[in-house]
Amino acid sequence: MTETTLRAAYAGARAIVAGGLGFIGSNLARRLGTLGADVLVVDALLPDLGGNRHNLDGAQGRIAVEIADLRTADIAPFVAGRQYLFNLAAQTSHQGSMDAPLDDLDLNCRVALRLLEACRKASPTVAVVFASTRQVYGRPNYLPVDERHPVAPVDVNGVHKLAAEAYHTLYRKVYGVKSSVLRLTNTYGPRMRIKDARQTFLGVWLRAVLEGRRFEVWEGEQLRDLTYVDDAVDALLLAGAAPKAEGGVFNIGGGRRVALKHLAKTLVAVHGGGDYSIEPFPATRKRIDIGDYHADDRLFRRITGWKPRVALKDGLARTLDYYRGNLAPYL
Ligand SMILES: NC(=O)c1ccc[n+]([C@@H]2O[C@H](COP(=O)([O-])OP(=O)(O)OC[C@H]3O[C@@H](n4cnc5c(N)ncnc54)[C@H](O)[C@@H]3O)[C@@H](O)[C@H]2O)c1
Repeated sequence: MTETTLRAAYAGARAIVAGGLGFIGSNLARRLGTLGADVLVVDALLPDLGGNRHNLDGAQGRIAVEIADLRTADIAPFVAGRQYLFNLAAQTSHQGSMDAPLDDLDLNCRVALRLLEACRKASPTVAVVFASTRQVYGRPNYLPVDERHPVAPVDVNGVHKLAAEAYHTLYRKVYGVKSSVLRLTNTYGPRMRIKDARQTFLGVWLRAVLEGRRFEVWEGEQLRDLTYVDDAVDALLLAGAAPKAEGGVFNIGGGRRVALKHLAKTLVAVHGGGDYSIEPFPATRKRIDIGDYHADDRLFRRITGWKPRVALKDGLARTLDYYRGNLAPYL
């Protein structure tokens, strides 16, 4: 699918982005704006999460923002008359889900279920795209991980994301609410939370190199396939627009896998300076570590024509460039 196809699907369409002041949601809302959609962003700007008003600065097109907590707000007026609902509202920290499991339950399960209930009642024809995570697989038995890999989450967040996926499948089957689910891998790029490691370890690494401080790499042999945020956004848009994606659960990866120690080395090289040390994994983190991960995302590629376009070095360069000009609002 091409830019023309996306424009055909979204120009003039009415879309809602739940969690649209967060990292991925804001990049998605901005892109929808440039595609000519009429966008409603709903976000609670919860302080421990990635929401940031600055994320929509300078955004083009028609984007309205509603500050509301989807755990309690009346959602029906937000979804009524919308053709697309992208649910990016979530608590994303794995350790955070272990420290406050009931908060994670509300933020991941309750919100997803409330959105689906509102769709069922107020907007039954809306196409829902739910951002899930590779965390549902737990520690992979084999690489690359395809969608047939058993699910066995290793933390509370993974359990709740899996339950939220299941709500979507159930509401589709029982009520005919259209939905698709994307299991995203580590996503990075402009507008991610970098003040701490709540979003991904890469956030603190980026902050450290930008501030000229040394960062820690835990072990360093773990494999990951990172997705640049523009590629993740394209995948979300295609999931909403491609008829064959409706009803599916898909992995989204980032192409080549990389060991974390090589990722650290690449980051320092792209920045043109920086330092890191290889440290043992802290025991509390080790308990919920997933080991290596690499997505097999050929199913989604085959169905939609999607593929990641931004190579790691380019993605890191674009990310660093963004924060060089916009650091203060993210600290
Ligand atoms: N960032 C990644 O690397 C990554 C990887 C895999 C999956 N995902 C998934 O993608 C989605 C978005 O992640 P992100 O990295 O953009 O997170 P983020 O924290 O940057 O954004 C989440 C946004 O949702 C908002 N939000 C949370 N609960 C809300 C509520 N009750 N009402 C209204 N707004 C609420 C927050 O304020 C925040 O702005 C999540 O579902 C996450 O699980 C992200």
